[in-house]
Amino acid sequence: MRDAPAPRLHLFVCANRREGSPLGPGCGARGDAVYDALKREVGRRGEIATTWVTKTHCLGICPRDGATVARWPAGATSAIVTEVAPADAGALLDAPAPGPDASRGARPDEPSVAEIARELDALEELQRKKVLDLARRLKPGLTLEDVQNPHDFPELDDPDWHYADGVLAGVQSVKSALSAMIRGRATRED
Ligand code: FES
Repeated sequence: MRDAPAPRLHLFVCANRREGSPLGPGCGARGDAVYDALKREVGRRGEIATTWVTKTHCLGICPRDGATVARWPAGATSAIVTEVAPADAGALLDAPAPGPDASRGARPDEPSVAEIARELDALEELQRKKVLDLARRLKPGLTLEDVQNPHDFPELDDPDWHYADGVLAGVQSVKSALSAMIRGRATRED
């Protein structure tokens, strides 16, 4: 057994189905609809790395309307909310989830995935500007699109420019690898 990184917020949505039970049919299709709405909203907010949504079986409430959702950490609301409809997705995600950013690694000084992504964005922006500034010193008037086709401009056959462009390509590769890792995690949650 070992500790693993945890999300900032983890929602468990009941989509349990029961046939002919005195306890009722279960959250079933209503739970599916809530789950879909939450996944859409999390994607729209760009929070798939820090907010996880998982379908689950019965959470013991079995409402007549809507579905039951368990949240970790509980935050300002109860750990279990029920009669949840798809339109509640935004409110569920907005409910404060206090405590340290749980998406961090096992050590408290480790950065979260979201922090690393932000740092890489800033680094890419800075390096892209450097590449363009250097290119314009070699041939004034070049655009960002021009420098993406350096073979069209013999002036760019310069070792310093190639070095700066290589650093930019490196930053972009790390960004792609991180995005693939985040997408992989989201797929495993589905
Ligand atoms: S079936 Fe959803 S809480 Fe019981």
